[in-house]
Amino acid sequence: MTTAVLPQLPADADDLSVWPASTTRLPDGGLAVAGVALAETAERFGTPVYLLDEGEIRARCRMYRDAFPDADVLYAAKAFLSRAMVRWVDEEGLGLDVCSAGELELAVTAGFPPDQIVLHGNAKSPHDMEAALRLGVGRIVIDSPSEIARLASAVGPKGHQKVMVRVVPGISAGGHEKIRTGTDGQKFGLSLTDGSAQHAIARIIGQPQLQLTGLHCHIGSQITSVKPYLAALRRVVGLMARIRDTHGVVLPELDMGGGHGIAYRPGEPALDLTALARRLRTELIESCAAAGLTVPRLIIEPGRAVAGPAGIALYRVLAVKRTGGQVFVAVDGGMSDNPRPALYGVRYAPRLIGRRPDTATCRATVVGRHCEAGDILASDVPLPADVRPGDLLAVPVAGAYQLSMASGYNLVGRPPVVAVHEGRARLLVRRESLDDFRSRDVGF
Ligand code: LLP
Repeated sequence: MTTAVLPQLPADADDLSVWPASTTRLPDGGLAVAGVALAETAERFGTPVYLLDEGEIRARCRMYRDAFPDADVLYAAKAFLSRAMVRWVDEEGLGLDVCSAGELELAVTAGFPPDQIVLHGNAKSPHDMEAALRLGVGRIVIDSPSEIARLASAVGPKGHQKVMVRVVPGISAGGHEKIRTGTDGQKFGLSLTDGSAQHAIARIIGQPQLQLTGLHCHIGSQITSVKPYLAALRRVVGLMARIRDTHGVVLPELDMGGGHGIAYRPGEPALDLTALARRLRTELIESCAAAGLTVPRLIIEPGRAVAGPAGIALYRVLAVKRTGGQVFVAVDGGMSDNPRPALYGVRYAPRLIGRRPDTATCRATVVGRHCEAGDILASDVPLPADVRPGDLLAVPVAGAYQLSMASGYNLVGRPPVVAVHEGRARLLVRRESLDDFRSRDVGF
């Protein structure tokens, strides 16, 4: 097999449709985001580096607020969290979904109002519960039967805590089996089918210090169709009606979770948020009318669709190897800053920046620098045939679940995060250094 050298740039290689709206082409063949040249940012902060377009994040928060004017929109912090992110989300009027004492404390110490925060987690530690009660978190989502007694006793006989119950509706949806949470046979939530949700709800209603405000349902992540949300909503509203019939309790809230899918490469499908908002609302009103229920307040928890498209990862090419009929382009990051291709087989669309490329292209495999053959960031990527060490590659749609899932593998260190906004770049999170590793390693 020989290396495929194509005569001209394929149509999708120059497509900026998945890039932030502020992206512009520069005369030298490079790109700028929010008025900041990517190549200059790579020089200034070193590589790998992650950029976040503040304006894009804010615009996405506003897009949610506009599409769901009657709902509470909570940003799912697990997608990406930093103190600046906390501030942007707060300023744009969103609440927050957290799943650990760490996310919770970071948010609250950055000034986020605790009553606008919902705490999740299939296995909340004593520390998680203690932090939630101490800081006065708005809602705690019960995910397993044993949490009910634990929480009630932590709250104490005179205390009070609002809670929701995470229900598994029996709907399969999501971009990969590892991120599907709507059916039985996975670790999250309480089954609607086998009665565990109903059982837990009866127990909570029997605990005077716990106030059940509603049901929660997150069916999965990277979902690109509205239909599974509607099916899940119908089932959960059915359960709300049964709760009313059995216990005489009308729940005022319904949290339909997040999971809104985005395009990682040009041409890929994304969830239509306007359609989701319109059809969820109609379905909610109709199902509640059919069941004679007062319409509960809708809550949603998008993470990926807020942060993902606003992020860009910049890497420097360290080596190019032409072997076995393939072109391996090795960069200075990899699975320690982005484990998603290895975990879920996700495909990205890196592109060369910082110089005007040769016209001929090759199909390259962009690999990381880690000690695993599976450390592949992107396969079958059209790159200039003259790609060489020193070149810069930029990966769009890098803002969600990359840095938040980054690891210390090979002691490479996690990259810094730089905000770009109105022509300026500013450091939000510094690069993890050898000193950071050394200072944790106390057992010499
Ligand atoms: N709410 C709950 C309860 C969740 O568990 C999640 C995500 C969200 C909201 C936000 O979902 P989003 O809108 O971001 O899809 N690491 C995987 C994604 C795992 C999602 C976990 N839960 C990935 O890289 O694709």
